[in-house]
Amino acid sequence: MLAASLMAVTPYAQAAVAAAPAKPAAEKDCKDCACGAMPSAADLQKVVDEAYAKYKDDNSGKNADYIPYLASVPSKLFGVVIVTADGHVYSAGDIGYAFSIQSCSKVFTMAQVMEESGAETVLKKVGVEPTGMPFNSVVALGMHNNFAVNPLVNCGAMASVSLVKAGSPDERWTKILAYQSKFAGEPLKLIDEVYKSEAATNWRNRGMAHILYNNGNLYCDPLEACDVYTKQCSIGVNAKQLAVMGATLANGGVNPLTKERLIASNLVPKVLAVMSTAGFYDESGVWAYNTGLPAKTGVGGGIFAVVPGRMAIVGFSPPVNTAGNSVRASEAIEYIVKELDLNLYGSMK
Ligand code: DON
Repeated sequence: MLAASLMAVTPYAQAAVAAAPAKPAAEKDCKDCACGAMPSAADLQKVVDEAYAKYKDDNSGKNADYIPYLASVPSKLFGVVIVTADGHVYSAGDIGYAFSIQSCSKVFTMAQVMEESGAETVLKKVGVEPTGMPFNSVVALGMHNNFAVNPLVNCGAMASVSLVKAGSPDERWTKILAYQSKFAGEPLKLIDEVYKSEAATNWRNRGMAHILYNNGNLYCDPLEACDVYTKQCSIGVNAKQLAVMGATLANGGVNPLTKERLIASNLVPKVLAVMSTAGFYDESGVWAYNTGLPAKTGVGGGIFAVVPGRMAIVGFSPPVNTAGNSVRASEAIEYIVKELDLNLYGSMK
C-alpha cells in the first residue's frame, strides 16, 4: 500500500522510478531487486530496528575532542532514521537528541549559494574536486594554489559562507540559519556551548580563511567567514530533522513535510554529485565502493545519505573514526543500503 502511495508522490519520485533499469516481465516482485520501487513500511521499520540493534554495542571510535564540547557528549547515543521522499518517518534509538550538525551543514550552504548565485559560482569560486585528504587539510589547500577545492572541506565551506549574499555578518548568519531550518522543516537553533567551544579553539580554520582571502579565494572578511561558518557548524539538529533535510534533497528540492521548494530541481543532482565524491573526505572512495550513495558526515556524529526519489537515511552516534566519520552511523546506513539494495549503481545482491 505504501509502495503505491509513494510511487504516486511527486513527479521527481516518479521520474526516478521511471529511470530505474527495466526488469524482465517475469520479475514483478521488487522485494529482492534494486529496481527503484519502495520497500513496504514494515520492511523500512524492520531494517531500521535491525541496524540499531546490530550496531548499538559497537564501541569502536571515539568522540572528537579537538572541539572540547564534543568530548562531553554521551558516547552511547545512537539513533537511526529513514524519512521517505513523501515524508514518512521510520526510526529507532536516540532520535530526539539535539547534536551539532557540523559538516552536514556544508551541503545546505553549498545549495544556498547555488540557488542564490547559480551552479557556476560554486564551480568557479569554490571548486568541486575531491581532495582525497582530511577535512581540515592545509596540504590540500597548498596543493591547489590556495583555492578552496570543494564546498565540503572546511576551506570550501568557509568560501561558500562568504558567497552568501549579505550586507553584514548578522545577515549572513541569519540567512544561513533560516535556510538550514527550512530544509529541516522546523526552526533550528544554535547550540551556544558548541559555538563557544569551537570559536575558542578554531585557530586552524582562522588560518586557512586568511590564506584563502590572501589569494582572492574567500569573498568576505576572513574572520567573518570563519565565525559564521563556526556558528553554522554549531546548529543543533536531531536525527529526524537531519533526515528531513536529506529527504528534501531526495524529493528533488521540495521539503516533504512543508512542501516548500528550497532549491531548483536541476541543481539537486549537482549537490548530490559533490556529496558522492567528497562527503566522506578521504574515505569517500570506500564509502562509494560500499554503498553507491551520496552522503555527508559531521564530526558531531551525524551522517545522512540520500537515495534520490526515495528516501534519506540518517545515523547519529558521537564516536568517530580517524577521518572524523561516525562509526555506528556509517555501519547502520551501510547495513540498510545492503538490506534494501539501494546502491544507485545497481543491485549488490
Ligand atoms: O571546522 C570543523 O572542524 C568542524 N566545525 C566541522 C568538521 C566536521 O564536521 C568534519 N566532519 N566529519
